[in-house]
Amino acid sequence: MSLLLKSLSPAIARLANYAKNPLTILGFGLTTLSGLALIVFLALEVAGLLDNPYTGVFGSALLPVIFVGGLLLMPLGILRRRRALMRSGQSADAIATYPNLDFNDPHLRRVAMLLAALTVINVVVLATSSVVGMNFMDTPKFCGTVCHKVMRPEHTAYQNSPHSRVKCTQCHIGPGASWAVRSKFDGLRQVWKVMTGTYAHPIPSPVHTLRPARDTCESCHWPAKHYGDKLRVVGRFAEDEKNSASFTALLLRTGGGAFGAGQPHGGIHWWHIYADNRIRYLATDQRRQEIAWVELTTPDGKRTEFTREGANLPAPDSIQRAARVMDCIDCHNRPTHLFETPAKAIDSVLQRQADLRSLPFFKREAVKAVAAAYPTHDEGMAGVRRSVADFYRKFYPDLTTRAGKLVARAADETAAVYDRTVFPEMNTNSKTHPNNIGHDDSPGCFRCHDGNMKESKGDRVIPNDCDTCHAILVDGSSNEPDLGQLVLAPPPPAPAPAEAKP
Ligand code: HEC
Ligand code: HEC
Ligand code: HEC
Ligand code: HEC
Ligand code: HEC
Repeated sequence: MSLLLKSLSPAIARLANYAKNPLTILGFGLTTLSGLALIVFLALEVAGLLDNPYTGVFGSALLPVIFVGGLLLMPLGILRRRRALMRSGQSADAIATYPNLDFNDPHLRRVAMLLAALTVINVVVLATSSVVGMNFMDTPKFCGTVCHKVMRPEHTAYQNSPHSRVKCTQCHIGPGASWAVRSKFDGLRQVWKVMTGTYAHPIPSPVHTLRPARDTCESCHWPAKHYGDKLRVVGRFAEDEKNSASFTALLLRTGGGAFGAGQPHGGIHWWHIYADNRIRYLATDQRRQEIAWVELTTPDGKRTEFTREGANLPAPDSIQRAARVMDCIDCHNRPTHLFETPAKAIDSVLQRQADLRSLPFFKREAVKAVAAAYPTHDEGMAGVRRSVADFYRKFYPDLTTRAGKLVARAADETAAVYDRTVFPEMNTNSKTHPNNIGHDDSPGCFRCHDGNMKESKGDRVIPNDCDTCHAILVDGSSNEPDLGQLVLAPPPPAPAPAEAKP
């Protein structure tokens, strides 16, 4: 080292002398180590060997910060030592404030080349790691698991939804740089709240900063392609010994419109979104569950205002300020984070796994177990499984011996229902986040369509007839409907043959 120093020109020897200080050495160490670690991290990431979100945060956020921090410490140390040396008069040559760089000096040239090469490597390493970092922060793994406890309810529901392959950011941020930047700033605020433990339990919804749904949902669900109605067969089960079944088949008028020839077209999507109808409304509560005022503007420019009977309306100008234009989210508020009620979730298990219906009182016991209070999610899972198994062991010991596997599966399925719908740590469940599609567990469509939303000047009412939104094809049958058997009406009687002319 000293040999090398001696061979250098005085200017460089001076620099090397200034560099001999703890700050610069620390900076040099940090940069070298984090730089090497970054290269290893990037190689592992490219090879697809990294699976843990914490390594991801470490590699793509922490390492680059250490790296840049080290880079900054080096000149800082040099400047401080130079000032100190000059002040104490120890610096051999009182010199100009700025170093005199003479590129005719071959040594200086060599060092400059070396510095330039190192800078290029630094820039490449940093740029790659920030690209990897940005990509990583885009993944559901990052969004859903880094703040594991906080995001557990939303992430779990998401994994069990039709959108489990859609990235969180595709709904929460959408395309375009300005929303991405906004979300990063919002993210900083959220990180602060998590670090200081000042976040809300549950994470509140509606999400007021959510981008208008039509910019996000419509990048996949193309408006003009919503046609045809949607068939839904729902099985409901009673809390009696036989888990008595009741099946309903609904044809939901999502896009196809009116049933029956000669009636005007216009389905659910068409009416609220796509016909250039514009619906605005005013909710009087945070969760947008109580709606007091609705305005419909049809494409011909005609405005109709509806108000809820007996509602306390604010002044007209504050209605105009606070009103919200209806979009996808006002009905589909749970497209991916659906926390079903215990009853509905158990019903769908029974609908899919018919053999469980033979277990006496399964529906009643399962709902009771899932709805009970537990201190933590994990204790809840264990408690639910135990509660179902204990019930059969105690009251149906023969059955437990005869059909042990079935009882064990019943206990597992019930625990799985708890697993995706109840999160005590975050106080999140079907009651805190109701679903707005439908009208039985929460007002849903009936926030406006309950028959009490009347035209302010006139007597038109937002319609409430049972066939406004769906045709009920099968109404509470105890037999499972066989929808493969489409029954056609008998052909009309053939007209009497015309009298043959002789
Ligand atoms: C299909 C679109 C979609 C995807 C994908 C999606 N979300 Fe959401 N998310 C929503 C909508 C819509 C809301 C707002 C509901 C409201 O405002 O009533 C929401 C709300 C939330 C909330 C607020 C609490 C709540 O339950 O309303 C959190 C937290 C959240 N999402 C996290 C995530 C995370 C983490 C991921 C990825 C693992 C994700 N989201 C993926 C659509 C989506
Ligand atoms: C990146 C593409 C993408 C985005 C963005 C997206 N979806 Fe979807 N969505 C899909 C796909 C794909 C399916 C079908 C999944 C299947 O049937 O398995 C689907 C299914 C659905 C369904 C039917 C679910 C069911 O149970 O049958 C609804 C409703 C829905 N999406 C609403 C929304 C809403 C509301 C948004 C915006 C908040 C949204 N989607 C954003 C891709 C997307
Ligand atoms: C007025 C309420 C309402 C609005 C607003 C609304 N939808 Fe729907 N949508 C429904 C109902 C009801 C269904 C059928 C019920 C179900 O799927 O559970 C449905 C079904 C769907 C489906 C599944 C279709 C199928 O046949 O499988 C998709 C996809 C969808 N909506 C996307 C959207 C998108 C995207 C928007 C916004 C541009 C939107 N919806 C706005 C009420 C609405
Ligand atoms: C914010 C208020 C609001 C909500 C919530 C709402 N709607 Fe509507 N809906 C309206 C208004 C306003 C009209 C137009 C009524 C009129 O023309 O008199 C309408 C019309 C309709 C129509 C057409 C009725 C006709 O005359 O043929 C259908 C179908 C419908 N809505 C279904 C639904 C469904 C399904 C939901 C729940 C998923 C829902 N709506 C939620 C406000 C709402
Ligand atoms: C404003 C639209 C609208 C009106 C009016 C309406 N419904 Fe519904 N109904 C829906 C929607 C949307 C669903 C949910 C479908 C789903 O879960 O996907 C539903 C679901 C149902 C279900 C199945 C519930 C379950 O167990 O999941 C029944 C039964 C039902 N409606 C009966 C009725 C009856 C009876 C009336 C008349 C009093 C009525 N509906 C009026 C929109 C409506």
